[in-house]
Amino acid sequence: MSNIGSYDERIKNFDWSIAEKELGYNNGNVLNIGWYCSDRICQLGKADKMALLWEDSTGREKRYTYNDIRLASNTIGTFLKDLGIGNEDRVCLFMDKIPELYLGFVGILKIGAIAQPLFSAFGDESLYVRLHDARTSAIITQRKHVGKVRKIIDKMPYLKHIIVVDHDGRKPLKEREIAFSLEEAEPVEHLEIFPTTAESASVLHYTSGTTGQPKGVKHVHYSLIAQYLSTRWVLDLQEDDIYWCTADPGWVTGTSYGIIGPWSVGATQCVQDAGFSAEAWYRFIEKRKVTVWYSAPTAIRSLMKAGEDLVRKFDLSSLRHLASVGEPLNAEAVVWSERVFGHPFLDTYWQTETGSIMLTNFPGMKIKPGSMGKPFPGIKATVVDAKTYEPITEPGRVGLIAFRPGWPSMMRAYWNNEATYQGKFKNGWYLSGDRSSIDRDGYFWFTGRDDDVINTGGHLVSPFEVESALLEHEAVAESAVVAKPDEVNMEVVKAFVALKPGFEPDADLELRIMNFIRKKLSPLAMPQEIEYVDSLPKTRSGKIMRRLLHAKEWGEEVGDTSTLEDDE
Ligand code: WT7
Repeated sequence: MSNIGSYDERIKNFDWSIAEKELGYNNGNVLNIGWYCSDRICQLGKADKMALLWEDSTGREKRYTYNDIRLASNTIGTFLKDLGIGNEDRVCLFMDKIPELYLGFVGILKIGAIAQPLFSAFGDESLYVRLHDARTSAIITQRKHVGKVRKIIDKMPYLKHIIVVDHDGRKPLKEREIAFSLEEAEPVEHLEIFPTTAESASVLHYTSGTTGQPKGVKHVHYSLIAQYLSTRWVLDLQEDDIYWCTADPGWVTGTSYGIIGPWSVGATQCVQDAGFSAEAWYRFIEKRKVTVWYSAPTAIRSLMKAGEDLVRKFDLSSLRHLASVGEPLNAEAVVWSERVFGHPFLDTYWQTETGSIMLTNFPGMKIKPGSMGKPFPGIKATVVDAKTYEPITEPGRVGLIAFRPGWPSMMRAYWNNEATYQGKFKNGWYLSGDRSSIDRDGYFWFTGRDDDVINTGGHLVSPFEVESALLEHEAVAESAVVAKPDEVNMEVVKAFVALKPGFEPDADLELRIMNFIRKKLSPLAMPQEIEYVDSLPKTRSGKIMRRLLHAKEWGEEVGDTSTLEDDE
């Protein structure tokens, strides 16, 4: 029996107070996600239950019970507090998927500070724009990443503490750096939880848009209500499950459903701190006896490519429930997973801004492969006309995905960017920026994004950010960055580049430019192809016509270019 039981029953008279009651939360009281994910589970009698089974690519393992989570987060929280960090200070987590990332996240929330997780593969420029926008006070990182912080430290007077969790004492620490070792620290039995309430800020996640620098999406502790309930009803986590979320907490899936969701329901989760390999993934599922698996379409397509013979080499019979998020999940992937794993991947749709799952296929619901499913109970979802912002009633007609504001985990602001935040709301709807249609049965069918953001392997990359970084390369006069089709990643970054006089448009320079972006921004943002051009197509007012280049890449009709000129 699934936790949700019948979807149709659940949407009747739905109220978020269902989650509040289950969590024992009374409106207006202290509400702290860090406490809910550790101390409360212990209070419920599960102190000795396994919370985290961790391993890395070398096979090193660590295990943490809920009591261990409670103590470790107390210890990290106390360490930060003693440094003077507290209420709403931004603390960046800049680590690989090591235990300190998960435990530090809980510790930061317990002391009322804001957790700002950033993907550890980010280069110094990506790191800088996000730390600078947030005026981050402290960063928790590893030896292997501290060099990137050192490169930009002089530009960040507000960044007072650089905490290195694996300092081995060999090389001296530099200015503002301090070592912290969870293993050597005295465990802190009692930490006074900062009295955060529903609207206190909790997490700040940066996400990329078409124009301008990435936006800091501010979430609050009340997001727990939706994250908890969707973990129960969509991911269906139950007492004996072994859950595996493959996402990195540098992205919202890795926090909402890689930390907060599973730990607030008291589940056992496992983490593999390693790069992707189909074989290693299957071995991990077999070894950990994973029952519930939350992953992403690009990974699933890579598994499909690795073939069915590989699947048969492993005992994956523990699996009972699979879900996916991040990009369109093609019907073939759903059908394939049902055939080879005995269970289909269920597509879920949401965004950094929504904080929790909005549209989804539920356990037990009739699945239409290729569809994102239906709204989570309590979510009023529709598609609206792109000009009038009125809901479209005709089944099958494409419009902009829109949600009625007010669900618990909705972002509360874009950090320092009220105008852009307000721009997300039209005619009483929150607009997600994606397009979809709704069929006669109320199922949503994704058709594409409504902007130029590139979704590569489930990660959003801003063409603007890549273009800005390209301009800093000595050889680049101007550039335009668009998505190019890719079999596995769906989209990859492609750059059109016009060179400055004196530079040769050859393969060597292409490689150098690619590497420049990889180091400065990240491997995700690195163009997979650079096409040299003499000049770029521009509007009369001098704006580069990115859409024209995009259309060519995708073999689409370019149509009337005069209309492109009017586009933003
Ligand atoms: C964008 C949000 C929140 C999870 C990780 C991504 C795309 C997300 C789906 C899906 C088609 C999807 C949308 C969305 N997206 N899920 N099931 N089908 N597209 O969070 O980085 O904020 O990206 O990812 O375009 O707007 P994010």
